[in-house]
Amino acid sequence: MATHEVIEKNTGLLVVFILLVVSIGGLVEIVPLFFLDKTTKPVEGLRPYSALELEGRDIYIREGCYVCHSQMIRPFRAETERYGHYSVAGEFVYDHPFQWGSKRTGPDLARVGGRYSDEWHRVHLINPRDVVPESNMPAFPWLAERVLDGKLTARKMRVLRSLGVPYTDEQIAKAREEVAGKTELDALVAYLQSLGRAIQSRR
Ligand code: HEC
Repeated sequence: MATHEVIEKNTGLLVVFILLVVSIGGLVEIVPLFFLDKTTKPVEGLRPYSALELEGRDIYIREGCYVCHSQMIRPFRAETERYGHYSVAGEFVYDHPFQWGSKRTGPDLARVGGRYSDEWHRVHLINPRDVVPESNMPAFPWLAERVLDGKLTARKMRVLRSLGVPYTDEQIAKAREEVAGKTELDALVAYLQSLGRAIQSRR
């Protein structure tokens, strides 16, 4: 009887060998990722979000902006000509969680930082039709009225630090002061203006 026949006729043995083969395949794919610096190293010029930008990011998530906007430029010509340099892994190491997405009802926002003035964003977010007449993006007028107190900002930064974001004690100590009294609109605009800058500035 050939060896493979012994295995094929013994279900228990077959299961053991299948598990062995599958786990070797899995390990070969997964283990190198733990040792690859490239997937976890920040790109040159990347800095963690400031306290205000971080609050803006939470508002971006709360308002569901990601439902219509991706933040990942794919390495295709049609994308890079429209949005700029394609996204690279090292740009997102301080994002927990990242906002890549795949649904684009509106444009990708990965490099929107610096594309418009703060004033443009304020008008656009309060009523998109005021600057883009054909826009079907919803208006977010309440953001201009809500004032942040910054009570939780330092705590959020400490949590992010435990995940590897290099905030200094000084940044954390000043977080509340930086955020308190600002509107949600201020924070969201600061966040949008920070997007994609690390690679833009090298162009
Ligand atoms: C229902 C889908 C939808 C949602 C939700 C949405 N947007 Fe938009 N957004 C659009 C569309 C469509 C456009 C293109 C027309 C325009 O510029 O208004 C756009 C454009 C933009 C632009 C201009 C981008 C560029 O490169 O011209 C920014 C910035 C933006 N949105 C930010 C946001 C933010 C921040 C939020 C959450 C508070 C948000 N959007 C929520 C659909 C959406």
